[in-house]
Amino acid sequence: MKDKIEQLISESQKAVITSKEQLDAFKLKFLVKKGLVNQLVQDFKNLPSEEKKKWGKDLNIVKQKVESIFNAAQESLAGESENSEQENGLPGFYSELGSRHPISSVVEEMTDIFSRLGFSVATGPEIEDDWHNFSALNFADNHPARDMQDTFFVDKDIALRTHTSSVQVRLMEEGKLPIRSIMPGRVYRNEAISARSNCFFHQVEGLYIDKGVSFSDLKQTLYNFVQEFFGPNTKVRFRASYFPFTEPSAEMDIYLGTKTESDKRLTKGTGWLEILGCGMVDPNVLKNCKIDEEEYSGFAFGLGVDRIAMLKYGVKDLRTFFNSDKRFLNQFVNI
Ligand code: DAH
Repeated sequence: MKDKIEQLISESQKAVITSKEQLDAFKLKFLVKKGLVNQLVQDFKNLPSEEKKKWGKDLNIVKQKVESIFNAAQESLAGESENSEQENGLPGFYSELGSRHPISSVVEEMTDIFSRLGFSVATGPEIEDDWHNFSALNFADNHPARDMQDTFFVDKDIALRTHTSSVQVRLMEEGKLPIRSIMPGRVYRNEAISARSNCFFHQVEGLYIDKGVSFSDLKQTLYNFVQEFFGPNTKVRFRASYFPFTEPSAEMDIYLGTKTESDKRLTKGTGWLEILGCGMVDPNVLKNCKIDEEEYSGFAFGLGVDRIAMLKYGVKDLRTFFNSDKRFLNQFVNI
């Protein structure tokens, strides 16, 4: 028995297994029903019982050894074939997961809130003519109001729109009343670029035209928006203002307080931050767009998106939104 055991061990250890064929041959020689290991087991079974006690343990060791040689060889061959598949196959490609741009997220959130109030979404061109950007909105020729917005001209009467109010005009001209729409989009002004201002930015315009629309409807709509967007109990105030296309006109501020340094900076120490302009659509504008100003009235507002996004995400420099630095944008992957 001893010789048989030793022979089996040394034979199995000497076996060279570097291919699938050699692996199969090993199995056939040692591990199948009629293989050497089982033959040894049969021999063992024929031993007298006191001999069995002597060799039982060794027999188990032999079985384990042969099996482990087989398993190790099988594993290493499987690993090799995986590698060679990789070498021969097409290279895998890795595509990085992008993220929604923070400005888009803010616009989406605003759109969501206004759509719950019954506002649909409209868009218009970024290159506008003088009529839609200025004249129809009651900016008189050579009126100083045109200086409120430093314009990039493309041609004599064509410019990059300076505000989304131009889309109001396009909607009104379509003549489908009533109108209850918001108009998100990018606008351009020839301003010095700094942490707080850029030569392009984003607005969400709003327009509601129907019979009997009043200033209190405007206030309630904006109040509702602010409570939804900035949280319940956000304090707001309306200040009288001037825009050529609204009468009366107002600006709305929200109260941030002056507790933190950034609140102080953003509000210039007052605690209040201006977030939008608004007012009742001037009858002249309705007339310019062929809407009967005796029968209809309406309100309009224009929200600055970028400043709100800065506020929401604690971004200190407006320019970081737009210089495509992935380290900055990656922070918004899960918002
Ligand atoms: N267009 C104005 C601006 O860009 C914002 C604005 C003010 C829009 C009052 C409006 C409005 O619709 O009613 O500064």
